[in-house]
Amino acid sequence: MEGFFIVGGNRLEGEVEIDCAKNSLLPIIACSVLIDGEVELRDVPQYKDVLVMCEIIRHLGGKAFFKGNNLYIDCQSMDKDCLPNDLASSVRSSIFMLGPILGKMGKAKVAYPGGCDIGLRPIDLHLKGVRDFGAKVIEKNGYIYADGKNLEARDIVLSFPSVGATENLMMLALSIKGQSRIFNPAREPEIVDLQEFINSCGGKVMGGGGDMIVVDGGRKLHSTSFKAIPDRIETGTYIIATAMCGGKVKLNNVIPSHNNSLISKLSKSACKFEINNDSIVIERKSHLKSFGEVETAVYPGFPTDLQAQITALGAVSEGYSMVVENLFEARNKHIAELVKMGCDIRSKSGITIINGKPKIYGADLVAPDLRGGASLVLAGLCAEGYTTIENISLIDRGYYKFEKKLSQIGGDIKRLEIVKNKC
Ligand code: EPZ
Repeated sequence: MEGFFIVGGNRLEGEVEIDCAKNSLLPIIACSVLIDGEVELRDVPQYKDVLVMCEIIRHLGGKAFFKGNNLYIDCQSMDKDCLPNDLASSVRSSIFMLGPILGKMGKAKVAYPGGCDIGLRPIDLHLKGVRDFGAKVIEKNGYIYADGKNLEARDIVLSFPSVGATENLMMLALSIKGQSRIFNPAREPEIVDLQEFINSCGGKVMGGGGDMIVVDGGRKLHSTSFKAIPDRIETGTYIIATAMCGGKVKLNNVIPSHNNSLISKLSKSACKFEINNDSIVIERKSHLKSFGEVETAVYPGFPTDLQAQITALGAVSEGYSMVVENLFEARNKHIAELVKMGCDIRSKSGITIINGKPKIYGADLVAPDLRGGASLVLAGLCAEGYTTIENISLIDRGYYKFEKKLSQIGGDIKRLEIVKNKC
């Protein structure tokens, strides 16, 4: 099967173009169900999760196709309201289809979502919000059945600022005439981007990024041409890669403020940053020392999607570091793989203590999930010897042309057929 073959030890030098954000594009593709006309999304990377969402759109009777780097979606011919298990269970973002399908078709039958194996990932906040809007929701035989006969514009309060639940409920509210308000929403930049997308189609959504989102529902939504924000997690991954391997890298097409928590953490250790309007230059100035401690939190706190990557950084930084994962109870499967490389890491109930080593060694590894897989790539790039990584389709879910971009800045990484070591 396909895998990455990495030879560690090279410094990283050069420039990287950051792609549009996976976690913006996925809800925007779902929202396209509600648009009366063609949606053009510019410069869309072919993340595996984006390709699955396009398959879902086509399954429902809509059109979704690439022309060059642009993705075109047109759901005017959509005629289905059922999302089967084989499609829904392969991505977390399938649950974002519940609101739009229910809003457009009046009812929905959606199988449970999949996604990275980083915890239970319940959908109770999604379903409670849909019920609070007046829908009848039954869970049976692995499917969610929703009936939208009695939908009404309402005030909805989220008990936790869930990113997906916020996006799902924003989209459901678009189909309900009147003003709905969502309190305690997620504040991630991707929420604001969904709001900007909706408003570019003639919608009227306000308050994204704050503590209350107001949706003026029942408006006709027309065609648009839109470009999603840069991927702040891809940006953070390359920042950490440069810190680990040493060197100087310029990241283009970024919104620096989206990475404030990481930049402030690393500028206190061994990295020097040059922050421009839409680019960041990061240079590893000196010997890597521990970054101290990091706790993951909702935005603008330290992102859970960079937790595995900064754990790998701690593993090669002198001294002790601590990483606390507060959002996903099982986002730790990368640790067992890092330990195979000689990393000294202990983890219990979300608290990880890392004793940084001057040298780690290449090994044969298996990517446990998207961001855990990325952390293994970073570790392989700065390890002594070679590293193989299997299961890289999980990494392809959220990094497009990862090995090509890393090779362009000096990383020795290839995508090859991996033949298991036979001893
Ligand atoms: C989104 O997942 C992202 N995925 C995740 O990125 C990201 O880690 C996460 O937000 C947090 O920022 C996409 O946008 C496609 P949540 P989501 O609902 O919406 C609990 C990546 O690597 N919760 O904000 O699933 C949940 O268990 C992926 O790109 C409930 O309890 O995240 C978790 O503890 C991984 N009930 C917390 O909330 C619910 O109904 C945050 O989850 C929903 C969530």
